[in-house]
Amino acid sequence: MAEQAAPTTAREWHLAARPQGWPVPADFALVEAPVRTPGPGEILVRNAFLSVDPYMRGRMNDVKSYLPPFRLGEAMDGGAVGYVVASEAEGFAPGDAVLHGLGWREYATVDAKRAVKVDAAAAPLSAYLGVLGMPGLTAYAGLLAVGALKEGDKVFVSGAAGAVGSLVGQIARLKGASLVVGSAGSAEKVAKLVDEYGFDAAFNYKDGPVSEQLAKVAPEGIDLYFDNVGGDHLEAAIGALGVHGRAVLCGAIAQYNDTTAPAAPRNLALAIGKRLRLEGMLVGDHAALQPQFVGEVAGWLAAGELCSDETVVDGFENAVEAFIDLLRGANTGKMVVRLGA
Ligand SMILES: NC(=O)c1ccc[n+]([C@@H]2O[C@H](COP(=O)([O-])OP(=O)(O)OC[C@H]3O[C@@H](n4cnc5c(N)ncnc54)[C@H](OP(=O)(O)O)[C@@H]3O)[C@@H](O)[C@H]2O)c1
Repeated sequence: MAEQAAPTTAREWHLAARPQGWPVPADFALVEAPVRTPGPGEILVRNAFLSVDPYMRGRMNDVKSYLPPFRLGEAMDGGAVGYVVASEAEGFAPGDAVLHGLGWREYATVDAKRAVKVDAAAAPLSAYLGVLGMPGLTAYAGLLAVGALKEGDKVFVSGAAGAVGSLVGQIARLKGASLVVGSAGSAEKVAKLVDEYGFDAAFNYKDGPVSEQLAKVAPEGIDLYFDNVGGDHLEAAIGALGVHGRAVLCGAIAQYNDTTAPAAPRNLALAIGKRLRLEGMLVGDHAALQPQFVGEVAGWLAAGELCSDETVVDGFENAVEAFIDLLRGANTGKMVVRLGA
């Protein structure tokens, strides 16, 4: 693709204040900033898609975690895909499509060692932020490497219509689970889980207690729970897990905007008698699975065996709104922001 010269300034999103509870637009600032010419070993990228992800909410707090907090008054970062417009790095040329970590800005000057070339002809560029990217690997590694899914397992996944959850349920089915059930936050999402993603059953967690609804869709209990939500979902899953059941603790989105410490699942002690394994996971630990993951998932996509939805928000200026909407559940599948050409 032919690339035009880069402008001298472009927009980026800064964190202006640390959100207290739910983020509000005033916590962010859209700033016009100089576009830095790449130095040796660097490339300049025109971002085409930005990722907004739940983990970013944690980085808005000033707390020590597995990733450093965003700094106030500076551009935030995160996954992005775009096109090289200028290169001072061997192996990268203008027009190359790349995946990198300097999202939340229209143009990014990136250390080429931190950029990966992607094949824009093999899949839509945004897929490298979703089904073929970090959320896809999270689902694949979480279910297979951490959860040790076995043929015949009965599987429950929360956040089941989201980027990670929608793939967890489908991969479980493709790998021979005997029952796949999920929860999501609207009737439309629940219908999609069953009608399009092939879940055996699903429920809207807003319709009533999770434990009661889970008991209806999995009356014989579950062997494996993939937790994207925490709280009452985890508590219900602990109740439903059989002896030697496993729970993959991937996320706890129900608690990300809480300002007080959450109550632990009240039945955590059941984990002892049932000899449960509740194991936290971080996708970054599973980079070695990347080639196997891409090979297998790309094969399922090509064969039409795996659906991957995206919710696309247009316009860089709408990125913050897209992030807040993600936390509210406005997305089905991966939420991405598309920048103007
Ligand atoms: N451990 C890791 O390495 C790793 C990596 C990636 C992601 N994650 C975690 O995986 C989870 C899913 O991430 P994702 O990128 O796939 O996001 P996502 O599921 O595409 O989007 C977030 C979804 O969370 C749901 N949600 C929001 N508030 C909720 C609540 N109070 N109770 C239940 N559901 C709620 C919303 O759907 P509804 O309409 O259904 O409410 C929303 O669409 C998150 O917890 C994330 O932090 C962890």
